[in-house]
Amino acid sequence: MDPPNPMRLAALLSLRVAIFFLASLLVSTGTAVAHNDHGVHKNYLVIVRTPYEYNRSLFKDVSSWHASLLASVCDMAEEELDKDPSAMARLIYSYRHVVNGFAARLTVEEVRSMAGMDWFVKAMPEKTYRLMTTHTPEMLGLTGTTFPGGLWNKTNMGEGIIIGVLDDGINPGHPSFDATGIRPPPAKWKGRCDFNSSVCNNKLIGARSFYESAKWKWRGIDDPVLPVSMGSHGTHTSSTAAGAFVPGANVMGNGVGTAAGMAPRAHIALYQVCFEDKGCDRDDILAAMDDAIDEGVDVLSLSLGDDEAGDFAYDPIALAGYTAIMKGVFVSAAGGNMGPDPATVANEAPWLLTVAAATTDRRFVASVKLGNGVEFDGESLFQPKDFPSVQRPLVRDLSDGTCSDEKVLTPEHVGGKIVVCDAGGNFTALEMGAALRAGGAAGMIVITIEEFGSVIQPKAHALPASQVTYTAGQRIRAYMNSTNNPTGELVFKGTVLGNRDSPVVAVFSSRGPSKQNQGILKPDITGPGVNIIAGVPKPAGLMTPPNPLAAKFDILSGTSMATPHLSGIAAVIKKAHPTWTPAAIKSALITTADTKDRQGKPIAAHDGYPANMLTLGAGFVNPMKALSPGLVYNLTAVDYIPYLCGLKYSDHEISSIIHPLPPVSCAQMPVVEQKDLNYPSITAFLDQEPYVVNASRMVTNVGRGRSVYVAKVEVPSTLSVTVTPDTLRFKKVNQAKRFTVTIRPVGAPLMKGIVEGHLTWVSTQNVVSSPILVSFKKFVQDNSSTAHLRH
Ligand SMILES: *[C@@H]1O[C@H](CO)[C@@H](O)[C@H](O)[C@H]1NC(C)=O
Ligand SMILES: *[C@@H]1O[C@H](CO)[C@@H](O)[C@H](O)[C@H]1NC(C)=O
Ligand SMILES: *[C@@H]1O[C@H](CO)[C@@H](O)[C@H](O)[C@H]1NC(C)=O
Ligand SMILES: *[C@@H]1O[C@H](CO)[C@@H](O)[C@H](O)[C@H]1NC(C)=O
Ligand SMILES: *[C@@H]1O[C@H](CO)[C@@H](O)[C@H](O)[C@H]1NC(C)=O
Ligand SMILES: *[C@@H]1O[C@H](CO)[C@@H](O)[C@H](O)[C@H]1NC(C)=O
Ligand SMILES: *[C@@H]1O[C@H](CO)[C@@H](O)[C@H](O)[C@H]1NC(C)=O
Ligand SMILES: *[C@@H]1O[C@H](CO)[C@@H](O)[C@H](O)[C@H]1NC(C)=O
Repeated sequence: MDPPNPMRLAALLSLRVAIFFLASLLVSTGTAVAHNDHGVHKNYLVIVRTPYEYNRSLFKDVSSWHASLLASVCDMAEEELDKDPSAMARLIYSYRHVVNGFAARLTVEEVRSMAGMDWFVKAMPEKTYRLMTTHTPEMLGLTGTTFPGGLWNKTNMGEGIIIGVLDDGINPGHPSFDATGIRPPPAKWKGRCDFNSSVCNNKLIGARSFYESAKWKWRGIDDPVLPVSMGSHGTHTSSTAAGAFVPGANVMGNGVGTAAGMAPRAHIALYQVCFEDKGCDRDDILAAMDDAIDEGVDVLSLSLGDDEAGDFAYDPIALAGYTAIMKGVFVSAAGGNMGPDPATVANEAPWLLTVAAATTDRRFVASVKLGNGVEFDGESLFQPKDFPSVQRPLVRDLSDGTCSDEKVLTPEHVGGKIVVCDAGGNFTALEMGAALRAGGAAGMIVITIEEFGSVIQPKAHALPASQVTYTAGQRIRAYMNSTNNPTGELVFKGTVLGNRDSPVVAVFSSRGPSKQNQGILKPDITGPGVNIIAGVPKPAGLMTPPNPLAAKFDILSGTSMATPHLSGIAAVIKKAHPTWTPAAIKSALITTADTKDRQGKPIAAHDGYPANMLTLGAGFVNPMKALSPGLVYNLTAVDYIPYLCGLKYSDHEISSIIHPLPPVSCAQMPVVEQKDLNYPSITAFLDQEPYVVNASRMVTNVGRGRSVYVAKVEVPSTLSVTVTPDTLRFKKVNQAKRFTVTIRPVGAPLMKGIVEGHLTWVSTQNVVSSPILVSFKKFVQDNSSTAHLRH
């Protein structure tokens, strides 16, 4: 619905998809545990101190060891479970790869006595994560791709790459998951399909449901919950990442196009961890990621998260994401839909790709031509072919102008006229349309609320309509005030590509700075996330009759939608460069992103002003350029350890994060400051004497063997940035070279604000561009993000 005020806007836009669960071992071996334990026991995620590794000669597997730890604190006399009272039955998941720990049913007393055990680090009560989609349940058909003529060539459409999607389910018979022409998955694939065997194929190679934790808190989540049972969101995200070509699909009967995901020949493995509007359980997310990494996915696509997730040591996506990148699995995660307030970005660990959302160049144009000849381009998904283009009287409704009171929308007042309505009343735009149609109106103009700026989210209305921006709406209102007989006509122009005012970052897209590591620019990058058309089992809220193919596609918005675009693009890069680390793929995406829109102006935020880096990240993804970046800022999993020491995590917390790597002691290694992490963007704080920051970096040549790169710095005159050395001469591929970036103010340092610029390495073939973000004060107090428990 069209939100009436910004507060409600934020609530409505918050993503409703949680894809945060780490995969885990399902422990309850077959026995159905009674789900009624009278509320005495609650779900906890228990982190075990590393190096308390299980002793293979004492326990047959990790889960029996975890059960023995649990048994040492379970008060069996107080046991109130109806059935099997063993510790094993209380164990929900025993994690193998992503963390040294388990999820279990525990009483408060048991948690208390556990805290005295030397193997104990932390027990966290259950938590629900959310899917990151906004709510636009209107139907639509389909169009071409978001990056026409771009990413693919005949030999690389993601063949053999497996994208693991954690979401709310999938619709297996959907044409986007047709396996025609797709080869079987590579031999390394160990996953499985828990559907009815006939529905998986070479496109949809895995489908599993993780609900062992969720079933304790949500009634009706019970075995077996197959991934097929729900999944509009998961079908949409999966088909965006790797949907097959679906020719001949169309938009409400207008325009013919071909639907396809970003990596149309890649394989999809769906891990169901979210359940309709209930959300996604943290410990199920952890379990799904645990298994997905083990089963052999190459990319993980997480359109879910927790807007308040804190510490990397206790967030399943950060914890399992680390294990993922250690095993070479690329992780793309939604930045969240809590914008435009600052410091709202989620999934901010530096080993994840954090994705923001923007509009695409595609519009569904429905113009308003006023009696004075002035024309405004609005949008509508309902594009009638037979609507006569004639001037008709323009009126507003007789109540508050929001067309939300059926009593005043009578044929005497609205019959045969075009009614101008302000969004934000008690009716959604669709409800306004239905009421006006019932009152005999000829058409409708909906004025979008001011907070949306230039972004319109078109609907399939019950009558000819145009949704216009707030600015256009005020000019229409002024014209109506200026004449006694205002008239207008609606002109339908169908699907129009190439909108030069795109991309524009969405109002809902969460903003930086990062709360956990303010010295790392987050979000990383922006992708298409507004009015995205992709597959669904069946569209919701349909107001006009669908054609058979259109009924298989819907339009959704959110960073949930932007994330699988990046997952699919990462799959194609991985196919082209199989040996690249996840950090190298991320670097390629970040250093080649576009900072200008199609008119060559800086990409704008929803308010029309240039989007800053805390909104846009490095820019809007440019898939073609990301395939050949020239240079990459490489990092391996172990490179984050001295960095985590610099963030002042305790040794135990770091050991939890890096599990299954052996435990570490920060006292015995040099600390890496945030400014010196070899990240493809640079953040510097000039907040204290001597007002100079040296950031060290290293680039690896992945382009031509013999090549020369020259540093080019673009910064405002308040800043001096020098690069030493300023020329890098490479002799061969995979050669790495270090340099230092020295940042200082020109004259006296500014007292507040941020300054942005770019460091670009230029060769005859490549342009490798890093954002530079300089702040003259810390974004948050030094100690707020580093107050960790110490054990
Ligand atoms: C494992 O348990 C066996 C038997 O108690 C013991 O001999 C061995 O030292 C233990 N191994 C480790 C690594 O603790
Ligand atoms: C398996 O799929 C077939 C065909 O789609 C269907 O008729 C059957 O009921 C399904 N079986 C189960 C157990 O879901
Ligand atoms: C909107 O709903 C509220 C609460 O139901 C009501 O008080 C108000 O009059 C309604 N406004 C309109 C324009 O119908
Ligand atoms: C149109 O006239 C109404 C009533 O006089 C006024 O409240 C409104 O601000 C005017 N709108 C514009 C855009 O001029
Ligand atoms: C297609 O892409 C692959 C790797 O991405 C590349 O090796 C090949 O040369 C490309 N082919 C064409 C015709 O561009
Ligand atoms: C990055 O570093 C890893 C580990 O040293 C190495 O395997 C890889 O080849 C490097 N380069 C790229 C482009 O990933
Ligand atoms: C910063 O780097 C430059 C160039 O390498 C060096 O000359 C200077 O001493 C460094 N300054 C600090 C404060 O580290
Ligand atoms: C550090 O944190 C404590 C407790 O949260 C707070 O009282 C104190 O003001 C903080 N110090 C600074 C410098 O912000």
